[in-house]
Amino acid sequence: KGILGDVWNDEMSSSMLGNRLKKVVQNYQAMNKYGVKVSGPGGTSNRPKLSGRELLCQLKEKVEVTTLTSDHQPFPALAWAPLLLPSQQLTSDLGPYKSCAVVSSAGSLRNSGLGKEIDTHDAVLRFNAAPTSGFENDVGSKTTVRLINSQVMASDDHRFLSSSLYSSGVLVAWDPAPFSSNLSQWYNHTDYPIFNQYQRYRRLHPQQPFYILHPRFEWQLWQRIQDNMAEPIQKNPPSSGLLGTILMMSLCEVVHVYEFLPSRRKTPLCHYYQRFYDAACTFGAYHPLLYEKNLVKRMNQGSNRDIYNHGRVTLPGFSAMNC
Ligand code: C5P
Repeated sequence: KGILGDVWNDEMSSSMLGNRLKKVVQNYQAMNKYGVKVSGPGGTSNRPKLSGRELLCQLKEKVEVTTLTSDHQPFPALAWAPLLLPSQQLTSDLGPYKSCAVVSSAGSLRNSGLGKEIDTHDAVLRFNAAPTSGFENDVGSKTTVRLINSQVMASDDHRFLSSSLYSSGVLVAWDPAPFSSNLSQWYNHTDYPIFNQYQRYRRLHPQQPFYILHPRFEWQLWQRIQDNMAEPIQKNPPSSGLLGTILMMSLCEVVHVYEFLPSRRKTPLCHYYQRFYDAACTFGAYHPLLYEKNLVKRMNQGSNRDIYNHGRVTLPGFSAMNC
């Protein structure tokens, strides 16, 4: 392999995985927990491969970055919702920012020394339980937005309601909804108790801005991934990593994503903050992460050297694109 040989190639497929992970991915590809209905080409190899620019414009046109507001049905009629849900969209309350950083939680951030560079951005997005304290040199210390999944909100280990990890910056939560459900159907069948935990958190921290992603956003993004891949992808929502990247593209002129496409530091270490090793963290099992990375590689406007040395991808914000 040459010096750039480890940069993500944009045609990764499940056939390139090790046997154990290949089986897991194939199981998820066959399963359809959320009742996804595949429309359009859906995983055939004879469709034109879009350029990075065309992909970016598709995302801008077809993916609505929406959060729940108190006037969405069924919320006006629920006792808690008009008091606790925001009245406005995240995108109208926050930004616009010039430059933003999205910090994946990958183990390859360890010993990256990227902290200073990350903190120079106008806004920084982090995920789930990713800490800064003790890791400032590698991941920085600024947190503007934290994107958390409903599993983290609900699990006892994370102490979501009381841990200081979650108490700074703007919180944004998400939960996988059935593919063709409306908000009322999802409200009654969430994967994890996102709405209970949201209410409890909001009552304990009434001053902290806290949004919930509209599940339509997850599935519109899923559709963009599937329509641009030559094989069927897992019928599960995209990972937090891609959701957060697209969220920041709607708030910022330019977005740098760190260690989503692995650098020369690529490692089976799952998170920079935990001693747990699993290749599924880099390649995905439940999430179609492999395919998310293929798309991001195609859309990257930075150099392969930036990926290799710094794990850095450069994407334009929607406002900066001419489509
Ligand atoms: O594990 P968690 O979902 O909290 O990590 C945040 C995001 O970072 C993931 O959703 C994934 O997109 C990305 N990630 C990665 N490689 C890893 C760990 C996380 O690409 N090893």
